[in-house]
Amino acid sequence: MTIEAEKAAAALAAVAEVQAGMLVGLGTGSTATQAIRALAARVGEGLAIRAVATSQASATLARDLGIPMLDFADVPRVDLTIDGADEIDARLYAVKGAGGAMLREKVVAAASDRMVVIADASKRVAAIGAAAVPVEILPFARASLLATLGEGAALRMRGDTPYATDNGNWIADCRLDLDNPAKTAAWLDAIPGVLGHGLFLAEVDAAYIATGEVVSRLERGDPPR
Ligand code: A5P
Repeated sequence: MTIEAEKAAAALAAVAEVQAGMLVGLGTGSTATQAIRALAARVGEGLAIRAVATSQASATLARDLGIPMLDFADVPRVDLTIDGADEIDARLYAVKGAGGAMLREKVVAAASDRMVVIADASKRVAAIGAAAVPVEILPFARASLLATLGEGAALRMRGDTPYATDNGNWIADCRLDLDNPAKTAAWLDAIPGVLGHGLFLAEVDAAYIATGEVVSRLERGDPPR
């Protein structure tokens, strides 16, 4: 089974949670794209839902596929959000943001009654920490923020210019000590000019992880496997 097939299998399992009348949060990235496609197929069969997106790319795709989209700025609560991750462990700690959407992803996740990560087996790790943590920074403070974030911080580039998020900010991909993820997240949260980061420690309620043809569901609070 290919990684793409695993992503599709995990996406299908999560999309099965969607019920008529729900307001659904749509994640960003290649795995979330599989969920958007699976959800659009159900909408095409008559499922009545509305959705919000965590990026302009996902909003455009969902709209093009016929999913009724709302502006998140008008939405107080979301029923269920389905999103990918770069790393996920048994504590349901995740690193997100390789696609650059982690700030909107976290905001939407925080407004969601349930947030579900979908992933192929390569994303499952014993403990998060190998992936760089993307940190969204205020361009005005680029040099001082890179200095604060330390030697392991690299400004994400697209060609010769900094990669800009949908919010118009820049990203520092940071090699960080994650022996104590909560301490690192609190440190990042306290830096003025850091607008968001890809450490998701409390947001994920469940994960569907596909290994070959088998999709496992981890729920927050489950005993470790
Ligand atoms: C987008 O900013 C990210 O958080 C993605 O959800 C994450 O990088 C996973 O992306 P893929 O599904 O493309 O691996």
